[in-house]
Amino acid sequence: MNMFRLAASAALALAATAVSAQQTVKIGFITSYSGLNGNLGPYMERAVRLYLKQHEKDLGGVKVELLTRDDTGPNPDKARQLAQELVVRDKVNLLAGVIFTPNAMAMAPIATEAKVPFVIMNAGTAVITTRSPYMVRTSFTLWQSSYPLGQWASKKYKTAYSLVSDFGPGHDSEEGFSKAFEEGGGKMLGKVRVPLQNPDWAAYMQRVKDAKPDVLMVFIPAGKTATAVMKNFSDLGLGQAGIKLIGPGDVTTDEELPNMGDVALGVLTVHHYSAGATRPQNKAFVAAWKKEYGQNETPNFVAVGAYDGAAIIVDAIKALKGNMDPDKTMEFFKTWKNPNSPRGPISIDPETRDIVQNEYLREVKRVGGQLANVELETVATALKDPWKEFQKKK
Ligand code: PHB
Repeated sequence: MNMFRLAASAALALAATAVSAQQTVKIGFITSYSGLNGNLGPYMERAVRLYLKQHEKDLGGVKVELLTRDDTGPNPDKARQLAQELVVRDKVNLLAGVIFTPNAMAMAPIATEAKVPFVIMNAGTAVITTRSPYMVRTSFTLWQSSYPLGQWASKKYKTAYSLVSDFGPGHDSEEGFSKAFEEGGGKMLGKVRVPLQNPDWAAYMQRVKDAKPDVLMVFIPAGKTATAVMKNFSDLGLGQAGIKLIGPGDVTTDEELPNMGDVALGVLTVHHYSAGATRPQNKAFVAAWKKEYGQNETPNFVAVGAYDGAAIIVDAIKALKGNMDPDKTMEFFKTWKNPNSPRGPISIDPETRDIVQNEYLREVKRVGGQLANVELETVATALKDPWKEFQKKK
């Protein structure tokens, strides 16, 4: 073989690897399709698929393959095992998804060791993103909703009780709320942490009722658990006793409103996303969702975390032309912004790889015959995770 042919075939071989590397970006997508609140996983997957469908044409021929796996609810061992298989056997370029904090925590070391960027589309405990430099979060933290909720509540109410699910996001919600509420001059009459699965709701609600707070602040994971809280709050007569129910938006999660009934009316929450928000980019998102999945279907905050998670991935693929070098991917993620998310403007904080977003005070009202989280005011603008901000000052 002469030198020319040698060089030419080497160039061809190089080109071939470059092309094949560019052809398909594999995403190991882990979420919950079964177990506790297993109805949430499909919101996440549908949102990713909707975004990919809308933006396929922008990908310059690069294909995206979604390898979907069921972690069966809060189950860190299962999530770790699935992530390991996706990385080692399926050689995914990215990990993504995850409803539950314990699962995201269990996957952190795998992302770090294998250098696989991991886009967290829900799990909201503040500390998660400190566990691996290969994590970025497009959802929320519970401090982002609960801290401004506490600030707002301290101006309206004197006493509060908190009731949270006993795991990471519940602890964050309790701490964020009570810190702000007390800083604002409010008094916490009690704080109770209840088992994540099947707590004895009636007993806990009775305890709160006996303490007679002005407000009960509740965090539970969204989905069916939110409806159980509403039902027990109503059945035990807390509303009649003059206690106001408030919380981060998980407790009035959009998809469960039709199952909650009138007890949800008037519940005030702080959150980053409402399906009922009237900004044009949200109306377009909700309309596209209904067109794709049916007129009676509504996205929720899990869907928006995943929709924006798909957006950051698609933008990275475009910027890197499908060559998903992990460190370059992370550098790209750190500077990402989207002024037009359905939830309003968002960006990634380059220092923490966590989402920066607005928080809205919302009230459940009847709109056109259906219950909706109606945004009343923006209580925080371009808010970074408050927990990380407080850690820096320590
Ligand atoms: C979490 O596990 O981080 C989590 C789960 C459900 C929510 C919020 C946070 O609604």
